[in-house]
Order: sequence, then structure tokens, then C-alpha cells
Amino acid sequence: MSHLSSSVTSHLRPPNTTPVDAPEATPPADHVLVLKVIPQPRDANSNGDIFGGWVMAQVDLAGGVLPARYAQGRMATVAVNQFIFKQPVRVGDILSFYAKMERIGRTSMTVNVGVYAERFNNQGHYIKVTEATLTFVAIDDQGRPRPVPKRDL
Ligand SMILES: CC(C)(COP(=O)(O)OP(=O)(O)OC[C@H]1O[C@@H](n2cnc3c(N)ncnc32)[C@H](O)[C@@H]1OP(=O)(O)O)[C@@H](O)C(=O)NCCC(=O)NCCS
Repeated sequence: MSHLSSSVTSHLRPPNTTPVDAPEATPPADHVLVLKVIPQPRDANSNGDIFGGWVMAQVDLAGGVLPARYAQGRMATVAVNQFIFKQPVRVGDILSFYAKMERIGRTSMTVNVGVYAERFNNQGHYIKVTEATLTFVAIDDQGRPRPVPKRDL
């Protein structure tokens, strides 16, 4: 590690591992597991918790998994309709992203994503940390909306 990077990291807080008193939750049976990921120290903010923008990026990726099956090609996120950070995410949590299609329009698809954390020291127990609803649009090679080709799976 260079002199510069070690002097920068020495000013960062260590990862926050304080227990959070949050109710245990069960991932809903009508949602599909679309992504699992473990946030790393580089994903933390200056409080030592995980940066909200990192969580949003993962939700955007996870949210696209089911719509991609209907779009069968290029698509873009047109809206984040709702995004709730219910509990902090911690370094080392195992995050599970569960998704459910909510609506298929002419060119757009709306999906609900619930994010559940297994704290690194409490595996097998889920806490709901984030809930979001996003809309994706199937687009053509010119980036213009195109009809969703697949209406059911
Ligand atoms: C996505 C994009 C092509 C849509 O173009 P547009 O001219 O707004 O298209 P339209 O107005 O015809 O809307 C297309 C569909 O999106 C829906 N839509 C548009 N804006 C929306 C919004 N704010 N919330 C929810 N749905 C929306 C419309 O209802 C329509 O759905 P339908 O065909 O199922 O009825 C264009 O907005 C775009 O390129 N945005 C940038 C995308 C991007 O860079 N995303 C981030 C990185 S992936």
C-alpha cells in the first residue's frame, strides 16, 4: 500500500459491527431470488456502514433480472418509483435480493425488489434492509422504446 493510500485509509472509520435491533423477516414466497452479494469494506461510507448508492446500484442490477426475461434484449431503467432504506447494511452481511414482476406494460415493466441481510455474525436469520420498485423499458438499437416481446413465461 502506498504512503498516500495508507494515510487516507487511516482516517476512515472501521466497519460498523454494532448489532441492530431489527425484527427478523421471511423473504416472501411470491418473490424470486435473483442476486446474492456480500458488501466489502470498499463499499462503506464514512460512518462505516454501506454507502446507499452502492445498495441502489445492486438493486438496479437485481431489478433487471426478471424484466430481461420479458424484454429479450436491450432495456434501460426509466424510473425508481420507490426506494426505502429500512435498516443499515453492514460490511460482511450476506445480502439476498428477491424480485417480483408487478406489471408489464406496452414497452415498460415494473418490478418490486426486497433486500434481506444475514448479519455476518447471525447467519440464517434475515432482516429486511431495503425495499424498492423500479420500472424498465425495452429499447431498440437506437435507444427508443420498443414493445415488450414476451408477455408471459
Ligand atoms: C427509457 C427511455 C428510452 C424512455 O423514453 P420515453 O421517450 O420517455 O418513452 P415513453 O414516454 O414512450 O415511455 C415508455 C414507457 O416508459 C414508461 N415511463 C416513462 N416514464 C416513466 C416514469 N417516470 N415512471 C414510470 N414509467 C415511465 C411509459 O409509461 C411507457 O410505458 P408503456 O409503454 O408500458 O406504457 C428514455 O427515457 C431514456 O433513454 N432514458 C434514459 C435511460 C437511462 O439512461 N437509464 C439509466 C441507465 S440504464
